[in-house]
Amino acid sequence: MKARIAPSILSADFGRLADDIAMCVDGGADMIHLDVMDGRFVPNITFGEKMIGTVRKLTSLPLDVHLMVRDPENYFESFAGAGATGMTIHVEAAPHLQRQLARIRELGCWAGAAINPGTSLVSVREVVANIDLLLVMTVNPGFGGQQFIPASLDKIARSRHMLDEFRSNAALEVDGGISRQTIHDAWRAGANTFVAGNAIFTANNPKAEIDALRKLCLESV
Ligand code: DX5
Ligand code: ZN
Repeated sequence: MKARIAPSILSADFGRLADDIAMCVDGGADMIHLDVMDGRFVPNITFGEKMIGTVRKLTSLPLDVHLMVRDPENYFESFAGAGATGMTIHVEAAPHLQRQLARIRELGCWAGAAINPGTSLVSVREVVANIDLLLVMTVNPGFGGQQFIPASLDKIARSRHMLDEFRSNAALEVDGGISRQTIHDAWRAGANTFVAGNAIFTANNPKAEIDALRKLCLESV
């Protein structure tokens, strides 16, 4: 699978969201990442259904919705109805993970499972057949602009190994602190889908940054 770049609009300027989304599209983004936070699972609040619907009207790119919320199943129908293409839930907030993932697929979306830096990969082993995407968090979720946790590289490599072991085609996504400094190592470790907020939206030329990030995944060393 080629490297896919998913700009996170958490770092966009909401006052000129249409321009920022258009910039991502022009820059060749593969999907738009939307970070839903509820102030309970993570210590921050962002947005929900209305924002998903707004972004849906602004682009035909896939919408990669990352639910950092407790009781995520309460939102599945409304988010799917608003235009989510995929929904990723945290195993730490999903006691009935298998059923919850199956429900996301039933709604016609790709189903993702996310694990925090402190959560073992074992927690997703039993549901590999139920996921289309595995999200390995490379920061503790809640805020953009944090530092990539170096120990994540080993976890990405183990995740790649696990997906291969199960012959799973699930995307292996990383999220948090992805930049020109970190993306190549994450890619080499086996990730193929890269969320980036700060790196793209604070760049002098955000459009070119998307391409620069992707190119760093093509270099062999
Ligand atoms: C963190 C969010 C991320 C965030 C990434 O809780 O899940 O998607 O936007 O931001 P950067 O790329 O700035 O670390
Ligand atoms: Zn995210």
